[in-house]
Amino acid sequence: MGRQVLVTGGTGYIGSHTVVELQAVGFDVVIIDDLSNSSAEVVDQIEKISGIRPAFEEFNLLDSEKLEAFFKKYTGIEAIIHFAAFKAVGESVEKPLLYYRNNLVSLMNILDCMSEYKVANLVFSSSCTVYGQPDQLPVTENTPKKDAESPYGNTKAISEEVLRDVVKVTPDLKVIALRYFNPIGAHPSALIGELPRGVPNNLVPFITQTAAGIRQQLSIFGDDYDTVDGSCVRDYINVVDLAKAHVIAINRLINNTNSDRFEFFNIGTGTGASVIEVVQTFEESTGVKLNYKIVARRPGDVEKIYADTTIANSVLGWKAETSLYDTLLSAWNWEKRIRGIN
Ligand code: UD1
Repeated sequence: MGRQVLVTGGTGYIGSHTVVELQAVGFDVVIIDDLSNSSAEVVDQIEKISGIRPAFEEFNLLDSEKLEAFFKKYTGIEAIIHFAAFKAVGESVEKPLLYYRNNLVSLMNILDCMSEYKVANLVFSSSCTVYGQPDQLPVTENTPKKDAESPYGNTKAISEEVLRDVVKVTPDLKVIALRYFNPIGAHPSALIGELPRGVPNNLVPFITQTAAGIRQQLSIFGDDYDTVDGSCVRDYINVVDLAKAHVIAINRLINNTNSDRFEFFNIGTGTGASVIEVVQTFEESTGVKLNYKIVARRPGDVEKIYADTTIANSVLGWKAETSLYDTLLSAWNWEKRIRGIN
């Protein structure tokens, strides 16, 4: 058995891809997920890809008694990757307390248990949302953070502050926060991918569902921004490349190669793409024509953001490898498989 890693939210979109990459290099993975936004079948799909069935415990991390019982049962956990969180920006505006409670209390429960059960290493899922609309692009890790645009975004900003303060007073604790830009795409096997409940909020699931005929038309939110073609610019990062960054972060923590006990890294490609470029690249790579129209701006959207990945490249030795073209094709292959399209 390899070294044991707990992945919270391990049946979710980024979590499941990370479990597969951890298993590929010999880690023994245990998943906690409450299945609030994913399904238990993902565990089967992970097993199909890796040949190894991860241990799976179903409960919500707000339940501190179950979490205690978990750490009493799994005594060999050396590191934790904490993905489990709510992530719908619009819903967070409607239900701020739900978001603050779920995303912050779960983190605090984990930190309590890490101290009690002597688990020293944590990788935290953060987001480029902590930068807001930055004054200068690309954003480096030292670009000043702006006020979050939503309660969801604020939970990420606050979580980073909680981690920083707890690390200061906990000599054994080491944390790496990965600030993801826009994760997209699916595993090349098409066995795991992003499966939003209901109408997708995010661009790429909306594109693939439109191409699959589930949605009639994609709305492009605004073409009057100060960008190449007027549509918003984001840094779209392949989910498998992103998953691999977590494996590197875990190894860095376990092997004690981090110089600072609280580190954070931008995880993106370093290149921005506009919404219209994404649509065009999707059409080119898949050969499917998309039905779309330009509509008004979406409130709360930032105009453009993309990462400076110099620090991730040099310090972590990590770099995004997969092109936008191939990534969009992988998203389409996944959508086709789950919808039974040839
Ligand atoms: C959003 C959140 C981000 C969060 C991420 C994950 C904001 C400002 N940011 O990122 O904090 O981590 O979701 O859920 O809300 N678009 C369309 N049509 C659509 C959908 C999207 O044109 O139907 C455009 C958006 O205007 C945006 C781009 O596509 O320019 C990407 O949108 P989306 O996938 O929702 O991600 P973000 O808004 O960047």
